Amino acid sequence: MKGEKFVIQGLGGRRVLEGDVEVRGAKNAVLKALAASVLFNDTVRFQNVPRIEDVLRAGDILRALGADVTLEDGVPRAVTISKTFQTELPRDIAAKLRASIVFTGPILARFGKVSFPHPGGCVIGERPIDLFLSGFEKMGARIKNREKSYDIIADGGVLKGAEIFFRNQSVTATETLMMAAVLARGETVLLNAAREPEVESLAQFLNSCGAKIEGAGTSAIVIKGTKLLSAGARVYTTPPDRIEAGSFLILGALAAKKLTIRNCDPSHVMSLIETLRATGVSIQTARDSIIVEGRGTPQSLRSVHVKTAEYPGFPTDIQAPMTIFLTQTSGRAMVFETIFEGRLGYVEDIIRMGARIDVCDPHRVIIHGPTPLRGRELQGPDLRAGLAFVIAGIIAKGESVVHNVYNIDRGYERIEERLRGIGVDIQRTQ
Ligand code: EPU
Repeated sequence: MKGEKFVIQGLGGRRVLEGDVEVRGAKNAVLKALAASVLFNDTVRFQNVPRIEDVLRAGDILRALGADVTLEDGVPRAVTISKTFQTELPRDIAAKLRASIVFTGPILARFGKVSFPHPGGCVIGERPIDLFLSGFEKMGARIKNREKSYDIIADGGVLKGAEIFFRNQSVTATETLMMAAVLARGETVLLNAAREPEVESLAQFLNSCGAKIEGAGTSAIVIKGTKLLSAGARVYTTPPDRIEAGSFLILGALAAKKLTIRNCDPSHVMSLIETLRATGVSIQTARDSIIVEGRGTPQSLRSVHVKTAEYPGFPTDIQAPMTIFLTQTSGRAMVFETIFEGRLGYVEDIIRMGARIDVCDPHRVIIHGPTPLRGRELQGPDLRAGLAFVIAGIIAKGESVVHNVYNIDRGYERIEERLRGIGVDIQRTQ
């Protein structure tokens, strides 16, 4: 809820956390699968859906468009596209949720038109949508740009296959155009496509329901257009959230004696695992769990440079927790954020907690570790930096208050309950 905050009693550098923590379904996977339900002629069912704000908003978008959405505790569990389905995304919700843009591909492909406002979301950079627009144009659509919103119409009501080379690798542009191509006439080739596991998980489900997508998970995806998909008895199972798994891993490396992260896919966080191992952290992986064991203090670990990159490189979404980690290790480390230009703003607050960080430019900081952190009041600026503040509060000395918990709830389901389960003293208050 808006106005809530987390009050955390910090560990003051003590290594005491212990136990098992479970990872929930991936926000950035299920949001796309919910949008994909527009490609179906029957009901699509979902499981392992996290109860987070962004998922609730995606459900609201589908209901506002006229879909029949079965909710369980507010969370969408089944979606059927009705005959009266609308093609204009609701302005108030879509303007707040960046992922709303992924609805545009399936809607345009099925109904021949779509209208939407410029999407909102976390303030982490410019976040343009030119790749979506030029992709739609290549597929034979015309774009009318109204003030802060777009009307897109497919020539003759049907998109046609095209070859699209993405100037930048973009996760949501890849997913949106891949979904659009499923109902287009002919073949679409997406080049320099994003290779994130969420793209692959989406393609696998669509293929199991009749789509013809090859190469998802690589940078060249070929899609043969088909008719509407049928889910039948198939259920979309949301894969585990790799960003959540990675954040728990970092917390474990900083403050746990032994932490087992369950219900995750270690192969999705290999870049982080190898980076932490390079600092000296002991990590073991099994099929669907990761064990991180802490020996001594984080000061005995070596700092390493980190550069964010597209998958399978170091995820930009784990950059903020990693920066917190590097304030505790020994030596000098550069963090180079290559994907977004506004994603280091939170470091000012970490400096106020006692960290020594030089801000070089909007993309690079140099961290001089180790420095103990002191608890303080923090305003969570976006969802990933918000969780990084929670981690900073946990390892700091004294009390921290993290405001704007709403931002954290957008991506993490009742995170405080799971943190309490491993020994963190954290309360949600008004
Ligand atoms: N870009 C363009 N033009 C476009 C689209 C993107 O130039 O039309 C650029 C962006 O400015 C950026 C780069 O391409 O520099 C990559 O951004 P991308 O489009 O891949 O980001 P996204 O698809 O908007 C998704 C996740 C983000 C995650 C990024 C990078 C979803 C809903 N969001 O965003 O997740 O950080 O990929 O991995 O899937 C989050 O969950 O907190 C989050 C921000």
